[in-house]
Amino acid sequence: MTPAPRKPPVGDRQDKGQDVQAMFASIAPRYDLLNRVLSLGIDRLWRREAAAEALAHSPRTLLDMATGTADFAIELATRAPGLKLTASDFVPEMLDIGRQKAGARHLDIKFEEGDALHLPYPDASFDAVTCAFGFRNFADYAAGLSEMWRVLTPGGRAVILEFPPPAQGLFGSLFRFYFRQILPRIGALVSGNADAYTYLPESVLAFPDPERLAQLMRATGFRTRYKLLTFGIAAIHVGDKR
Ligand SMILES: C[S@@+](CC[C@H](N)C(=O)[O-])C[C@H]1O[C@@H](n2cnc3c(N)ncnc32)[C@H](O)[C@@H]1O
Repeated sequence: MTPAPRKPPVGDRQDKGQDVQAMFASIAPRYDLLNRVLSLGIDRLWRREAAAEALAHSPRTLLDMATGTADFAIELATRAPGLKLTASDFVPEMLDIGRQKAGARHLDIKFEEGDALHLPYPDASFDAVTCAFGFRNFADYAAGLSEMWRVLTPGGRAVILEFPPPAQGLFGSLFRFYFRQILPRIGALVSGNADAYTYLPESVLAFPDPERLAQLMRATGFRTRYKLLTFGIAAIHVGDKR
């Protein structure tokens, strides 16, 4: 039996790229099922809302970075049939599943292997760039944002969908309990990788709060706003390159 990969460190400016790759390669076959179970299907609503923001100015070209198994790319391609959509990720096992899903739906999505921190595209290549639940895993948040900025055309839009750390208060406490005690157990059972589903809550707890992420986006140059979803479990950050 192959040993489970090492759990990646969490937070910003951490050397975690290879551990993140190995972790997603190991959970790829169960990733979609676990997403549905652990979010009780609500992730679909969050993706829909984030897609509406990304498509608001009718981009002609869009890059979905850290696309994984392509759920967000599929949402985008379904809503905007004429869109030239590139979906990129640095884990081929995740991309393979995404490619199959898009093929089964006859969606025209170009899948490409690539590191979000060193994107293989010239400056100003895309009218919109999206990243759903991938940003938290980046080894360097500022580097991720500056790559987004670089590949965007002037006037283009970046949309980040992420899990902010749970807020204070009753709902936050309940959610922390679910996150720390229940989610890792279900994740371990279904995926066979216990570390991956302790990494998930730990990486969320170590992630900057929405105001801090908005500041990082502003520091990159974006005009930015954000919206909290489902009592603040998820957040959509919109950054316009003005
Ligand atoms: C939680 S999954 C999200 C996948 C998908 N966007 C979704 O909404 O379901 C995170 C994805 O980010 C990818 N990822 C993390 N860091 C990356 C990086 N530096 N470059 C490219 N992909 C990265 C992982 O390989 C993984 O597929």
